[in-house]
Amino acid sequence: MQFALQQFPCAVRNEELKDMSGAEELIDALNGTFGHHPGYRASHAKGFSVRGRFIPASGGGEAQIPLLQSEQQVVARFSVGGGKPAISDKSPTVRGIGLEIGQSSEKWTMALISNPVFFANSAEQFKAFLAARVADPATGAPNPTKVKAFNDANPNTVPHQAYLKSVAPCQCYSTEQYHSGHAYHIATSEGSVAVRILLEPEAGRQGLSDAEMKDLPDNFLYDRLLKVLGNGPVRWALKLIVANEADDTSDPTVPWDGEHGELILGTVQIDLPDDRAGSASRVFDPSHLPEGVDEPRDGVFGLRSAAYAVSSARRSA
Ligand code: HEM
Repeated sequence: MQFALQQFPCAVRNEELKDMSGAEELIDALNGTFGHHPGYRASHAKGFSVRGRFIPASGGGEAQIPLLQSEQQVVARFSVGGGKPAISDKSPTVRGIGLEIGQSSEKWTMALISNPVFFANSAEQFKAFLAARVADPATGAPNPTKVKAFNDANPNTVPHQAYLKSVAPCQCYSTEQYHSGHAYHIATSEGSVAVRILLEPEAGRQGLSDAEMKDLPDNFLYDRLLKVLGNGPVRWALKLIVANEADDTSDPTVPWDGEHGELILGTVQIDLPDDRAGSASRVFDPSHLPEGVDEPRDGVFGLRSAAYAVSSARRSA
């Protein structure tokens, strides 16, 4: 397969983004909108842990990532977006998966969402997005005028919100697809290629109609996945979507349009709920990358590791 090889002049210096005081401000912004809930994550507060394994693609695939040439253990956590631990599974927000493939020092940790693009491309935009959604005391809901003013001033964030409105919420975590938004740089026999990660459910993406959703309980995503796992494992294809020359690889808010090449890395199989000690408090810090994977160069990726560490510290405060 021929790929568009791209050279990246390192437009964004991740080192400059990895600043702990900035991280405190990002977590303040999340807590400001969702509240501080001791014991819970500042974002994706509601979720639960599972475990399984990664099974490599036959033939090893075209990506040169040694970790993924053999079967690996997987720990994961499914979640509902936002920082409210009691949020209903019916809420119109993203679903997430934290995923750790491998163990010890050689592992790939990722945190993916059900939306192909993220809602901000910088720390300032992340904070402004959240500030515009602080609940109005009079209504208990975000003020639509403030949300509109934010959207008008930040049109790059609108595709994220438009996607959420355009797709039916998933009927089970096992029938959702999950995306990185970021473009990683992957070693192949033809050189480095820029890719977005896609976790594609074996059963296909399946959404719920409003009528189906109406009478479901608020924890239906948890209930359903437990039931499905009771009947056997669930699987996703772990794929890399290869950037075309026209794609923006330095902004996770910008959709990639048209036809794309794919690299299939293998299968992520989830077998069981994970109730082992420590599993619920695991931090899915996306800066853990294996050999063959180079970090995204955008205005967001470098913010994440420190922010996740501050959130983890505040969980126990
Ligand atoms: C400015 C950028 C971002 C910030 C500040 C941020 C912040 C956070 C924080 C504080 C947590 C909780 C961490 C913990 O306590 O363990 C979290 C979790 C999560 N984030 Fe982000 N995030 C950012 C970008 C993203 C992006 C780009 C994605 C995916 C496209 C993403 C997906 C997730 C997911 C799935 C979780 C839940 C992981 C788990 O289950 O433990 N985040 N985020």
